Amino acid sequence: MKITFFSSQKYDRIYFNKENEKFGFELEYFDASLDTYLANVITDSLAVCVFVNDKITSEVIEILASKGVKIIALRCAGFNNVDIDAASRHGIKVCRVPAYSPEAVAEHAIAMILTLNRKTHKAYNRVREQNFSLDGLLGFDIHKKSVGIIGMGRIGQAFCKIMLGFGCKIYASDVVTNNSLVEMGVEYTSLNHLYANSDIISLHCPLNQETKYLIDSKAISQMKNGVMLINTSRGALIKTEDVILALKKQKVGYLGIDVYEQEENLFFRDLSSSIILDDTIQRLMSFPNVLITAHQAFFTNEALTQIAECTLKNVKDLTNNKLAENGGLVV
Ligand code: NAI
Repeated sequence: MKITFFSSQKYDRIYFNKENEKFGFELEYFDASLDTYLANVITDSLAVCVFVNDKITSEVIEILASKGVKIIALRCAGFNNVDIDAASRHGIKVCRVPAYSPEAVAEHAIAMILTLNRKTHKAYNRVREQNFSLDGLLGFDIHKKSVGIIGMGRIGQAFCKIMLGFGCKIYASDVVTNNSLVEMGVEYTSLNHLYANSDIISLHCPLNQETKYLIDSKAISQMKNGVMLINTSRGALIKTEDVILALKKQKVGYLGIDVYEQEENLFFRDLSSSIILDDTIQRLMSFPNVLITAHQAFFTNEALTQIAECTLKNVKDLTNNKLAENGGLVV
């Protein structure tokens, strides 16, 4: 039984080949993203395994169905890049990895906050050049600051617990209230209240029609001056041009993003010798108070092991007509 991988990186092959010793699938890897051209190349595959920037459109799904593909296995949590209705119409199962080390993503969000605040990336370079001055490195205590968390699922909760450890006041926004977090002192509140009262705002909700461009000029206008915005969730939660305007006006004081709306043209590739045509990311990179990482929040040894194990188990379960027991079945 063959699984064909798209957008695969060296580390995918290492972790999946290792985990596959327990499962015994035939694994075929393509570096390129799945599109209508590559979908036509597939032969005898039971499943395709895709990642965050593969666009699984209805056209792609139609070809996959004609090739006999039965499963689309996402090796990530989000599934906004798959046309779920089209998959359902063609009887193709879609599964994902619902939970893999939420701490990996939460801890990366913390790393972004600490870097932006204490400027350790600048200090590192400065000291290596024997510049021991502190000018421009001033930060603030995170202790006792107010942190707004939008999306209190697995990652939001892991992030929340770390911020509680810092001694922060937590404002949360979610469609459901978790009472155990309320008992820990978390205050669920409206978005307006969260925006108006948070020094740091971190996004941990999924991207869907309701949350697309959640952070736009209107939302930003309600925030504190100098607010720190962190997005490790999905790029299109933020309307990038609005945030750029707010950075220019110094309304947004810090921006940390691990995700970017147009990331599929950039991330996971070495473009160091290329001319980047995306002026928006170039503008973002020009701000001294913006930190961009290239969708690496998930990138820990523990997370990669869990992703490989869960993805292969999902495919095995679905092949045996068992629902993926871990909540990984999307449709
Ligand atoms: P989850 O499903 O456990 O939690 C999402 C939470 O958001 C749920 O509690 C849900 O009720 C809430 N939510 C849904 N709509 C909302 C809305 N309109 N406003 C506020 N809250 C809302 O998902 P998990 O595992 O915590 O992941 C969150 C997101 O993180 C994923 O959707 C994915 O996009 C992103 N992610 C990013 C990674 C990275 O490497 N940068 C890695 C893994 C996930």
